[in-house]
Formats: sequence, C-alpha cells, structure tokens
Amino acid sequence: KKLIIINGPNLNLLGKREPAIYGSHTFTEFLEEIKTKYPKIQLTYYQSNIEGELIDKLQEVGFSYDGIILNAAAYTHTSVGLGDAVKAIETPVVEVHISNTFAREEFRHQSFISPNARGVILGFGLQSYELAIQSFL
Ligand code: DQA
Repeated sequence: KKLIIINGPNLNLLGKREPAIYGSHTFTEFLEEIKTKYPKIQLTYYQSNIEGELIDKLQEVGFSYDGIILNAAAYTHTSVGLGDAVKAIETPVVEVHISNTFAREEFRHQSFISPNARGVILGFGLQSYELAIQSFL
C-alpha cells in the first residue's frame, strides 16, 4: 500500500509547539516508529506551511496513491481551496487532528475537509495518525 501523510502549517514544530496540547514527541521520531511497526506500507511524509503547496501535493499524489492522511491544521477551518482539492482527487482522504478540535474554540469546529473525507479521526494525539493508517489496511 502506498500512503502519504500530509501535514499543514505549524506542524513542523511538533514537539516544541504547545506540548500540553500537541505532545512532546517530534514527528520524525513518530514516523520512524510507524515505519518500523508497518514495514509493508510505503509511507511518504510531506509538510508545508503554504496553502498552495498543500493543494499541489494533493493533486500530485491524488490519482496514484492508495490513501492520504491529511492534517491540514489551521487551513482545515479556513481553506475552501483545500476542501475543493480533496473533492477533486480520486485517492481517499482520511482527515486527522491531534487534538479534539470540538473541545476547543468554536472556530475549530468547522472543517472544509470533512465533507469530502472518507472519515475523520481526532483527539488521540499522534495515535490519530496511526488509526488513520490502520483504516487503509
Ligand atoms: C490541529 C487542530 C487545528 O485546529 C490547529 O490549527 C492545528 C492542529 C490538530 O492536529 O489538532 O494546527 O489540526
């Protein structure tokens, strides 16, 4: 299976950024663990702080990969363009969030990704990504 994890803005700071909410693990450490645990999966990782680059990546992988795990971070709540991209591609997208966005500010309750996602997993910390991977197995 060919899967990709796509992370949006500020998720390059995982481990450093608000550890009480997002944990103290870096994403690189986590990825190594996942790759060891699921050696058969071809797992790629991409992160960008730029909305258009995230759209470019979705278009690039969205007709050939078996699954996309997308944490669009703050763009989840703002980006019509990312929502449209998820709708436009063929590869199923599972939307992921580290925190339980519904337990947080009102503006985090809206998602432009969810209506076109195969499913949504949120609130389980970095384990949310692992659960999303398992949904494609
Ligand atoms: C997040 C939740 C978003 O509301 C926030 O803007 C993020 C991270 C999460 O994974 O919990 O940057 O997507």
